[in-house]
Amino acid sequence: MNNAGFLKGRDFLKLLDFTPEEIEKLIELSSELKKMKKNGVPHKICEGKNIALIFEKTSTRTRCSFEVAAYDLGMHVTYLDPTGSQIGKKESIADTARVLASLYDGIEYRGYGQEIVEELAKYSKVPVWNGLTNEFHPTQILADFLTIKEKFGKLDGIKFVYMGDARYNMGNSLMVGCAKMGMDFVACAPKKYFPAPELVAECKKIAKETGATITLCEDVKTSLEGADVIYTDVWVSMGEPAEVWEERIKDLTPYQVNSAAMALAKESAVFMHCLPSFHDLNTKVGAEMGERFGITAMEVTDEVFESEASIVFEEAENRMHTIKAVMAATL
Ligand code: CP
Ligand code: NVA
Repeated sequence: MNNAGFLKGRDFLKLLDFTPEEIEKLIELSSELKKMKKNGVPHKICEGKNIALIFEKTSTRTRCSFEVAAYDLGMHVTYLDPTGSQIGKKESIADTARVLASLYDGIEYRGYGQEIVEELAKYSKVPVWNGLTNEFHPTQILADFLTIKEKFGKLDGIKFVYMGDARYNMGNSLMVGCAKMGMDFVACAPKKYFPAPELVAECKKIAKETGATITLCEDVKTSLEGADVIYTDVWVSMGEPAEVWEERIKDLTPYQVNSAAMALAKESAVFMHCLPSFHDLNTKVGAEMGERFGITAMEVTDEVFESEASIVFEEAENRMHTIKAVMAATL
């Protein structure tokens, strides 16, 4: 394993902190670890270490990926759920960081503002990994990019179209990732859902060096022409008030990924989604929205979600292999 430990002691808080070469090496390491797992080759290279997982928001994929990856690497895990610790209520982030860093070899944090995970890292002497904040979801992007590489054999030059609310964690981090890796990124959304101008400017600067392009476009047809990857995310994210559903459904329905949208992209185009997804009415929230607004799906139709073009479950599996690489690289 050539790249294990190549980021020893570093935090993993956002992709802006990493060079394209480092991101590429993390993807290569993920691929190597994935092969080892598939071939039953043991890789307990972090034997005897302990990690803490702080989740101030709920999770299926990220939590399970950190746990399985940690066990495969030979580590022990403590999970702190959204209500079960003193964090933020009776104890500051700075104090929590210093306590946990004296007990653990690494700390994962999922929660609200990016400044919280940055503060945690500032006061922690062990690596801190961002498991999702309102602004960024960097481990998700590594999984997305590993999946794209497996599918297309490259990242460079891929036309990547993100449809929907592009101002939140997924839109932001995908734009940064595409800029770093020389991809053609399009945020296809109504203007008010475009990413923040400062982040767009920063990504355009990076893009100049890597050969990437960054486009913000309200028109679905123009955006999707020649697209290799169509990506979307939920229209209302964790922590947002329920009142915004009505406005989001109204604003973003024209940006739903449906068969007509897929037909505008390349014939070889794939559909991706970080999940969880409202592609039918088989969830509590999906059923409630179905009833209230007379709809059968939100950001993606069931037809596209279940189609041959959909690689969402390969993508979900890759969360584990890429999170394992982040831990193996930084510990
Ligand atoms: N994609 C993702 O982060 O999923 P979870 O919220 O289930 O962790
Ligand atoms: N934007 C979503 C991503 C979930 C993985 C959220 O923050 O809820």
